[in-house]
Amino acid sequence: MNICVVGTGYVGLVTGAVFADLGNDVICVDKDREKIEGLNRGRMPIYEPGLEEMVARNAADGRLAFTTSLAEGVRKSEIIFIAVGTPPKPNGETDLSAVEEVARGIARAMDRYKVIVNKSTVPVGTGDLVREIIVRNQPAPVEFDVVSNPEFLREGSAIEDTLRPDRIVIGAPSQQVAMTLLELYAQLGRPMIITDIPSAEMIKYASNAFLAAKVSFINAIANICELAGADVTQVIKGLGLDPRIGTTFLQAGLGFGGACLPKDVESLVQTAATLGYDFKLLRNVAEINRERAYHFVEGMRKALGPLDDKVIAILGLAFKPNTDDMREAKSVEVVTLLHEAGATIKAYDPVATENARKLLPPGVTYCASPYEAAEKADALALLTEWNEFKFLNLERLRSLMRRPVIFDGRNLYEPERMRRVGFEYHSVGRKPILPA
Ligand code: UDX
Repeated sequence: MNICVVGTGYVGLVTGAVFADLGNDVICVDKDREKIEGLNRGRMPIYEPGLEEMVARNAADGRLAFTTSLAEGVRKSEIIFIAVGTPPKPNGETDLSAVEEVARGIARAMDRYKVIVNKSTVPVGTGDLVREIIVRNQPAPVEFDVVSNPEFLREGSAIEDTLRPDRIVIGAPSQQVAMTLLELYAQLGRPMIITDIPSAEMIKYASNAFLAAKVSFINAIANICELAGADVTQVIKGLGLDPRIGTTFLQAGLGFGGACLPKDVESLVQTAATLGYDFKLLRNVAEINRERAYHFVEGMRKALGPLDDKVIAILGLAFKPNTDDMREAKSVEVVTLLHEAGATIKAYDPVATENARKLLPPGVTYCASPYEAAEKADALALLTEWNEFKFLNLERLRSLMRRPVIFDGRNLYEPERMRRVGFEYHSVGRKPILPA
């Protein structure tokens, strides 16, 4: 099939690359000239395992092309995916201006029947909005259909998630229109849900809101565990063995960040309010998440005393492992709080340093290794659970530090092991290991 994907962010670029890999002819469009020039030269705008190779292979085989011309993409394709950003406005509502602009562009370039698919995460009702914009902006009436096909990929495993999604959701105005997408996805052999457009849009928000609620729920339980002397990791095991609950997405820590969960939670709260429903439960999910960084830094202050003369090593800046994405990363909040308290910060992240420079306060020293960051530090704070941190030489780390204290914001280490190595160890929802 001839496919156009508008927007070369996480969703668009990965979707385009995977559709090409499945044998379709794909043209990816972005108005950012620099990004398109880079992609044409094989340079990825994001770090995502496996993406560069997949793009290179399909571009070389002539199945994947990049352009800044939306009109070219529209004319060459039967199906057009909208995968542009839908960032939050300051009040939490979703900014749909990029989706609206693309809809106008599609309308102007449309020369024959097209299926226009919304992949961006958009509030309920946006399908109708896109349809209206297209009708209003067509120079001459041309038939088209709008479909909602939300994306559930996770950063860091985006290719795998796109090739083997848990489910494919298709919100279409009729069975016949749904068939076009069904055909496109058939070879993945994954469960498909065919429904109406508003339900498909709602499935995406309900999924992300539920995941966010799981994280905030376990973080609230972790807070109580800390007060009661219980161990949240044991509680998670016990909870998760009930198949109705499950252990996945139930890791206590610094809370959820990233480009989706925080913004989708706020957006659903706003949509609900606009429709006349006060979604108190979800407002609390966001509130619990907002308190995480503060709670973590307070724990550091309690254990270390005033922070103004302390050197703190930070391990991990990205909002989660296997990505260089710093959007809504908890490291920004933690480092800013430490900086405001007067601490000296030495930070290390395997890939997110360049992106972090733009968001972290000035004066942070960026280090080339965890050991360099730990040198002469009064404490070390682990903020992202990168796999390489699991395999650190902890004896070496301890010997480099001025004071061997670790604050583990992601419960990456076993407390007993830390005791054996000689660390004072503080983690989330578990008893601290204090010096003998
Ligand atoms: C999320 C959804 O998982 C995905 O389906 C959707 O399409 C986009 O949003 P992503 O933002 O890539 O994906 O990251 P995810 O792996 O879901 O993690 C989100 C945040 O929650 C991270 O900050 C992570 O550290 C945190 N998290 C996740 C926890 O704190 N505990 C957990 O148990 C799981």
